[in-house]
Amino acid sequence: MTSTELRQKFYSFFEGRGHKVLPSASLVPDETDPSVLFNTAGMQPLVPYLMGKEHPQGKRLASAQKCIRTDDIDEVGDKVHHTFFEMLGNWSLGDYFKSESIDWSWEFLTHEEWLGFDKSKLAVSVFEGDDDAPFDQEAYDKWLSLGINTIKIAKLPKKNNWWGPAGATGPCGPDTEIFYWTGAGEVPTNFQETCDYPSWVEVWNNVFMQYNKTIDGKFDLLEQKNVDTGMGFERTLAVINGLDDNYETDLFKPIIEKIEEISGKKYKDNQHEFRIISDHLKAATFAIGDGAIPSNKGAGYIVRRLIRRAIVKAKEIGIEANFTDPVARKIFEIYKDSYEFREESTLSELEKEENKFRKTLKEGLRLLEQKTAISGQDLFDLYQSYGLPVEISTEEAKRSGREINNEAMEQYSNLLKKHQDLSRTASAGMFKGGLVEAGEMTTRYHTATHLLLAALRQLISPDIYQKGSNIIAERLRLDFNYQEKLTPEQIKSLEDLVNEKIAEDLPVTMAEMSVKEAKDSGAMGIFDSKYGDKVKVYTIGGGAHSTRSDRSGSAFSREICGGPHVTHTGELGPKGAPFGGHFKITKEESSSAGVRRIKAVLE
Ligand code: ALA
Repeated sequence: MTSTELRQKFYSFFEGRGHKVLPSASLVPDETDPSVLFNTAGMQPLVPYLMGKEHPQGKRLASAQKCIRTDDIDEVGDKVHHTFFEMLGNWSLGDYFKSESIDWSWEFLTHEEWLGFDKSKLAVSVFEGDDDAPFDQEAYDKWLSLGINTIKIAKLPKKNNWWGPAGATGPCGPDTEIFYWTGAGEVPTNFQETCDYPSWVEVWNNVFMQYNKTIDGKFDLLEQKNVDTGMGFERTLAVINGLDDNYETDLFKPIIEKIEEISGKKYKDNQHEFRIISDHLKAATFAIGDGAIPSNKGAGYIVRRLIRRAIVKAKEIGIEANFTDPVARKIFEIYKDSYEFREESTLSELEKEENKFRKTLKEGLRLLEQKTAISGQDLFDLYQSYGLPVEISTEEAKRSGREINNEAMEQYSNLLKKHQDLSRTASAGMFKGGLVEAGEMTTRYHTATHLLLAALRQLISPDIYQKGSNIIAERLRLDFNYQEKLTPEQIKSLEDLVNEKIAEDLPVTMAEMSVKEAKDSGAMGIFDSKYGDKVKVYTIGGGAHSTRSDRSGSAFSREICGGPHVTHTGELGPKGAPFGGHFKITKEESSSAGVRRIKAVLE
């Protein structure tokens, strides 16, 4: 079965059961979800709807979603791990629940008309229960009713059978997973005892999303009970085709062949390198296509690391010249029926990054050549400043007849370890976890965004509201409804007003209230349907707990918002140095029809 056929089968199965098929959302989450750098699961773009917002396409949805996960990046190189993958999923937004969801997953996997998996090679797991939520008796009984033997049902803890939230907070719940035995030998009879054998490959996850994890670690019951399912596309395709290596499916084969052609080496002799190169370049190609341009921060930093790692691995198999272009062209070809790429700009970004890194790499290597004896400190500096992995340094040194002794290697390892320990806390999540740091600077930008929106409403038009916002440590970005380009005078007056409010050092206060109370108090908020019962209202200046008659009263700004915010606007100003300072609009442009976009900094 080809990858295109598998996607189509999945779509038609769920369309036949009342689902609307959605196109994949961008890999880079939109401004409403600052909790992750990339979408890491099919449910992620649906979070507002899982929390209760009405979806325009209805209550039954399905999709193939592009995902990037970097937490397993060190595992990439084996047969089954990837940073980029697609997840096939179906969702019930407060519609069907456990019974239908389990029925359909089983039918799709096992029925001849669909995937026709051999039932005797399947086993399932259910949540065993703990202090947060009880044993999933309903799922367990459902499996029994489908004829699954008790010995093929494992009861497992949260670590295995609980999904979410994707960020620190959000929708989550117990799940039930379906595994396929890919081993050559007999299928083990007892699944509870053997479920951690690598030959059991998880092919489907049914998540019963009925909780919302709050910031203080509590699990509140969601009013709306949802189903969120996920099927790993690459591994399922491999299993269906009787392959035990995902890289042999049609989703990778053309890339592997291209690398064989360029390097003159064979995949079978260099599997580790070939897999890393093809996975990382695929992830980078998709990410760039979705707007994550190589850089030193956030998603762009991940893309940069992926490309550089691919180049280093390519060097290890003898590829010395630029090669990302022909590989990326293969990737476009593989996915041409399913995704659109901005081909020219993607190729040019890849090339730019490749040129930049090759230059760095060359400088690092030249430095290495100049040394007569190479110490551990040299190896560490080359790695740290030039991104030159120690394997490459040692190899290059050897090539010019210089050995690197054990002492130097040991010194290098110690320096590396010290550095990693130091940076672990500082950069936790930067490359691996994907969580955006809610650092001091982003907190300031959250508050600055409220000031800017209030200034727009006061100076430009009282009908302006927020259409989107995206905050990173370097700047804020605010999209709002307005037809015309702002004049330089208007921009100046906005900056002046925001700076005035910063100088006034106004208090920023928060009060929790119902959505209705929030609206009555004059608070702004456009995404209200995704909120729970209580919302946080942030007020800048004036009284925090104004009543209906007060409306927004003497406050400069009042918005429904999850935060975080500073406590006084003065923290945005020079007082907050070295971070804060002067509010400056760096860009004002059109975002889409009737929507303007402002980027601004505190410098
Ligand atoms: N969100 C679930 C997962 O990623 C389905 O496994």
